[in-house]
Amino acid sequence: TDLNRIRNFSIVAHIDHGKSTLADRLIQLTGTVAERDMQEQLLDSMDIERERGITIKANTVRIEYPAKDGHTYILNLIDTPGHVDFAYEVSRSMRAVEGSLLVVDASQGVEAQTLANVYQAIDADHEIVPVLNKIDLPAAEPERVKEQIEDVIGIDASQAVEISAKTGLGIPEVLEAIVTRLPAPKGERDAPLKAMLVDSYYDPYLGVVVLIRVIDGVIRRGDRIRMMRTGGTYPIEKLGVFKPAMQDIAELGPGEIGFFTAQIKQVRDTRVGDTVTHEKKQCAQALPGFKPSIPVVFCGLFPVDANDFEDLRDAMEKLALNDASFTFEMETSAALGFGFRCGFLGLLHLEVIRDRLEREYDIDLITTAPSVIYNVHMRDGSMMELHNPADMPDPAGIDHIAEPRIKATILVPDEYLGDVLKLCQDRRGEQLDLTYAGQRAMVVYDLPLNEVVFDFYDRLKSVTKGYASFDYQMIGYREDFLVKMSILVNDEPVDALSMMVHRDRAEGRGRQLVEKLKELIPRHMFKIPIQAAIGGRVIARETLSAMRKDVTAKCYGGDATRKRKLLDKQKAGKKKMRQFGKVEIPQSAFINALKMD
Ligand code: GTP
Repeated sequence: TDLNRIRNFSIVAHIDHGKSTLADRLIQLTGTVAERDMQEQLLDSMDIERERGITIKANTVRIEYPAKDGHTYILNLIDTPGHVDFAYEVSRSMRAVEGSLLVVDASQGVEAQTLANVYQAIDADHEIVPVLNKIDLPAAEPERVKEQIEDVIGIDASQAVEISAKTGLGIPEVLEAIVTRLPAPKGERDAPLKAMLVDSYYDPYLGVVVLIRVIDGVIRRGDRIRMMRTGGTYPIEKLGVFKPAMQDIAELGPGEIGFFTAQIKQVRDTRVGDTVTHEKKQCAQALPGFKPSIPVVFCGLFPVDANDFEDLRDAMEKLALNDASFTFEMETSAALGFGFRCGFLGLLHLEVIRDRLEREYDIDLITTAPSVIYNVHMRDGSMMELHNPADMPDPAGIDHIAEPRIKATILVPDEYLGDVLKLCQDRRGEQLDLTYAGQRAMVVYDLPLNEVVFDFYDRLKSVTKGYASFDYQMIGYREDFLVKMSILVNDEPVDALSMMVHRDRAEGRGRQLVEKLKELIPRHMFKIPIQAAIGGRVIARETLSAMRKDVTAKCYGGDATRKRKLLDKQKAGKKKMRQFGKVEIPQSAFINALKMD
C-alpha cells in the first residue's frame, strides 16, 4: 500500500466523553461492518469493559475511506485504554500512530484524563485534531471549551470539529480531517523488518495474537521473526488485519498495522514495546524506551471456602495467560489459610481481576489490605522490597523505610476545591501547584501511593459529587516514619488486617479500625478484646461484650419451621465467615474495616 494513502491515529479522551461512540460511528459510516452486525461499542470486547464502560486493552480497527480527493485511504485506529493504571500501554500505542483525535465533551470541558492522555500524544509528536463532542446537548458550550483547550493544553482549537457522535452530526468532517490534517506514516520498504509490538492477547483457538505496527520492511506469512528484547524466535502462521473481525492478508508493509500469530504459548512471551524483526536479516537497532509494566499494588486474595483453593489457582493461571502485568504467588496466612499474594498495575486493575474471579469463576474471595512496595533499608546496608506487611523484618535490624510517592493531578469545580485540598492534606499530601481555568481548579499534589491505594478515588468522588477527575504518575521513593500496625482479635493477630502506616497516623487509624471491627464482628458467647498494636505495644483497644441470649429464643419455642429457617439462615451466613481462634469474622468485615472515613 502507498504510504501516502495511510493514516494511523488514536482517540484520546476522558472517560465518558464519547471515544467509543465516535469509533463506532467511524466504523459504521465507512461500511466497515455490515449494518446488521453493528453492535454498540464494538471495540470494547470484554463484558466487564462493556458493563463499566471502560476500555482496558488496546484494540485496533482498519477502516477504508474514500476521501473527497477521489482516493481511498486506509485509516488505522488504535484504541487506547483510558485509565491511569494502563499508562504504559497508552504511551506505547501512541508511539505506533502519527496523530490523535482529541475528543472533549463540549458540555463538560477538559478533565484530568484528557490532560494525561493528550500529554502522551504530544510526547509522541502527534498531530492533534480537537473534536468537540455532544454538541447536541443543550448544555454544550463549544466556544468556551475551545478556549479552555487553548488555555489549559496550549494547542490551537480554532479548527476544532464540532460533532455529535450520538446523532452522527459532523462525522464526515472528522473523516476528512483525519485524511487532510494528520500526516502519512514514513518508512522504508527495502530496509530490514522493524515493527513495534503494540499489544497482545490470548485467544483460546489461535493462541497468542500479537498486534504490530510495521515501521520499516515487510512481514509475510511463513517468515521467521525474532523479538529483539526477549530473544524468542517464531514462524509467522497467520497474518492479518482487524476490520474489526480478523481478515487474512498476504503482507504488511511500512506504516501498516495488523496482527500475527506464531505458535506463541503465553502473553508473557510478548512484551509491549518490543521490536519484531526477521530472524536472519535483523534491523540494526531495537526501538528505544522499552520498559515492561510492573505491578505496584499488592494484596492477598484468599478463598472464603478453603476447598476453592485449586479452582482459584486455575482461574488465576487463566487470567494471567492474557495479562502479563498481573502476578501471583502462593501465600499462607495463619488466619486465612492458603491463598495468593497478587500484584497489580493499580487499583482499577485489582478491582477488575477480583471481579472477574468472583463472577466468571464463581469464587468468593477475601481481599486483604492493598499495599505498595516499601523499600526497607537494613542497618547492614542491604535493602529489601517489602510486598507484604506480614514479611516485615525485625525492627531492630531496620535503618529506615522508604515508600513510593505519586504526582497526582486533580481537576475540580471551584466549589469543591476546599474539600479536595483537605482530603489530600489528610492523606499526607504536599501541594505542588494550584491553577484556575474557567470555573475549574487544577491542583497538583505529591502524595504517598499508600494513602491512595485503598479508597482515595471513592472519597474524591464522594466529596466532589463525582465532579472531580484524577490522574497520577509515580515519581519515586522517599523515606518516612513508617511502622507496621497489627490487629489482634481475642489476642490472636489477624495478619490479613496488618498494615504499614505512618507513625503519626497510627493511633488514629488504629482507633478507627478497632471501632469499626467492633461493629462488624458479631457478638459471641464470650467477651472479645479487639486491639491495634505496634510491635508489642497496644495503641488502641475496644471490647465486644458477650451475647446474652440465644437468637432462637425470639421464636417463642412453638413454630418449628420458623426456627429451622432461622438456623438455615445462620448456616448460610456462616459460609461467609472465617474462624480466628475461637472467633468468627464475616468476610465483609475485612473490606469494610479497611475503608477510611
Ligand atoms: P470510556 O469507554 O468509558 O472511556 O468512555 P467513552 O469515552 O468511550 O464514552 P462512550 O462512547 O462510552 O460515551 C459515554 C456516554 O456518552 C454514553 O452514554 C454515550 O451514549 C454518550 N454520548 C456519546 N456521544 C454523545 C453525543 O454526541 N451526544 C450525547 N448526548 N451523548 C453522547
